[in-house]
Amino acid sequence: MALFVRNRRPVVLDGRLRHIAFIMDGNGRWAQKRGLPREQGHKIGAKAFQKIALHCESLGFEAMTVYAFSTENWKRPAREVDAIMDLLEEYIDSSEKEMEGHSVRFCFIGDRSPLRPSLQEKMTRVEEITADGRMTLNIAINYGARAELCRAAEQLRSTDTPITEQAMSEALYTAKSGDPDIIVRTGGDLRISNFLLWQAAYAELYFSKKLWPDFSPEDVDDVIREFYTRKRRYGGL
Ligand code: FPP
Repeated sequence: MALFVRNRRPVVLDGRLRHIAFIMDGNGRWAQKRGLPREQGHKIGAKAFQKIALHCESLGFEAMTVYAFSTENWKRPAREVDAIMDLLEEYIDSSEKEMEGHSVRFCFIGDRSPLRPSLQEKMTRVEEITADGRMTLNIAINYGARAELCRAAEQLRSTDTPITEQAMSEALYTAKSGDPDIIVRTGGDLRISNFLLWQAAYAELYFSKKLWPDFSPEDVDDVIREFYTRKRRYGGL
């Protein structure tokens, strides 16, 4: 009988891996499997996110980007949308304490104008307070990649800027953190769901069947080990 033991050697980042992104899928199913309301899945999902953000900062990532709420997520029942917004507010409120000993620069990406004013105020405040943080933590809220691309194109058009690849990249929300080296999706689905479409051009993709609340820092270490087995050719040989 073969025995599979997880490789516990600590992972060390080098310059090839600077930016990791997560599609945190599976919160609802995690809760439903336990006979709990979906909101409970988001609550435990938020805790998993906190642990993973601290882990990524400790490992030395330059940037981490997470998909917390898409432009399509408004279609969910108001109760679930409200619960996610409450969790985001609670998370920002506790972030100063949570992030103690870690250096994180918060950056919220997406159209924040339809969000409740109390959340918008907290987002702006935490971005200001953490502006000198080391690892950029992009949290996508009311984010959709197609909308982001339209916004960038409109910005270039209205300023009469020639539309080049570099100008587009600089007009995106992620201008400062650049493109992710790897995008991780939990929850078993094999798609990108309108996340970082431009930035994903050469990203490695990693799909896990684990539901997001079960995803752990050790799973992130497995992602990193897998990344280092991939050969990135960028279209070359
Ligand atoms: C996808 O799972 C997850 C979301 C739409 C919300 C993600 C939100 C959190 C992890 C909590 C708040 C985040 C932060 C940054 C504090 P799903 O509901 O689509 O799951 P399902 O596919 O099983 O239904």
